[in-house]
Amino acid sequence: MPDTEFLTDQIDKIEPLRTRLLDWFYRNKRNLPWRGELSPYRIWISEVMLQQTQVVTVIPYYERFLEQFPTLVDLAEAPLDDVLKVWEGLGYYARARNLHNAAGKIIEKWDGQLPDNYNDLLSLPGFGHYTAGAVASIAFGEVVPAVDGNVKRVLARLFAIDSNVKQGIGAVQIQTIATELVDPQEPGDWTETLIEFGALICLPRSPRCPDCPVQDLCEARQRGLEHALPARSGKKSLPHYDVTAAVIHRPEDDRVLIAQRPLDGMLGGLWEFPGGKRQPDESLPDCLRREIREELGLEIEVVEPLVTVKHSYTHFKITLYAYHCRLISGVPQALQVADWRWVTLAELDRYAFPRTDEQIITALHG
Ligand code: ADE
Repeated sequence: MPDTEFLTDQIDKIEPLRTRLLDWFYRNKRNLPWRGELSPYRIWISEVMLQQTQVVTVIPYYERFLEQFPTLVDLAEAPLDDVLKVWEGLGYYARARNLHNAAGKIIEKWDGQLPDNYNDLLSLPGFGHYTAGAVASIAFGEVVPAVDGNVKRVLARLFAIDSNVKQGIGAVQIQTIATELVDPQEPGDWTETLIEFGALICLPRSPRCPDCPVQDLCEARQRGLEHALPARSGKKSLPHYDVTAAVIHRPEDDRVLIAQRPLDGMLGGLWEFPGGKRQPDESLPDCLRREIREELGLEIEVVEPLVTVKHSYTHFKITLYAYHCRLISGVPQALQVADWRWVTLAELDRYAFPRTDEQIITALHG
């Protein structure tokens, strides 16, 4: 049993919090394509897309994805490349690989039906506590919480949890509160209520307290701590890397070389202009020649700069230097790439590229 002693003097507010927030949700919820959805498959897709990604960004992807893969069987039977292509631009591509992988497992082990409970969902690729809780509660009505970053913020404020909610005691306290709070009659609506409330009222930087239906029950608001909570974990600045990319031309038939990233790493399975990270004291052209030799066994001439692209990922930032290059010798070999192709510029749009490489393609067309 979790220790609920820290909650003792706030236990009485659980019932009114539930009632008033659910009531607020029923009056104010946005009309989103997955709202009121009954299909567990569709609910699952929406919850995966909504991780780390804004609702407005997700909507067109959600619609295109379900048009292309209307059922779990369609998803399981599709080539991974097709799944990545629909996902192109949405980021965090492990989500797409895991969806595809999990769909296969659900066919094999669960007869094509998403398992209907938190513990079994948790055993599938890509299901963490949040996704398992969200799908179990929304699709199957299981009385379990779904705690993401937004829910942590809301609960940290409502209950004035002042330790770091991302780890240690703070994280345990949040999980305990979230579990106690789930509405036993409407667990799915409750999950969506907390998320919607975090998205519309209890905003990260400027919470809309005057519009909040539970401001009198909010411990942070009562103590004037609504801007101070949740406690910020000292954000470190992101490391920066210089990265190179080669657009290797084959003038005989007007093709360029693209390579597929290894399936198990970052941006796994996406296609790119090959290259890699510059080492200390290495020039950019030296870096590019080395990377192309290591990854594909080719000797190239670095001809001239094409475009420079800056991009931030979750844990680091890069400046990507793309160069026009010419093949000197060799036949491509998949030494450190999953695959490679010589393609025309017109064929590039059949492949899924990371955002950075999309900018290289734009420069090539320009
Ligand atoms: N973010 C995560 N899940 C969501 C949902 N079901 N509706 C809106 N935003 C969400």
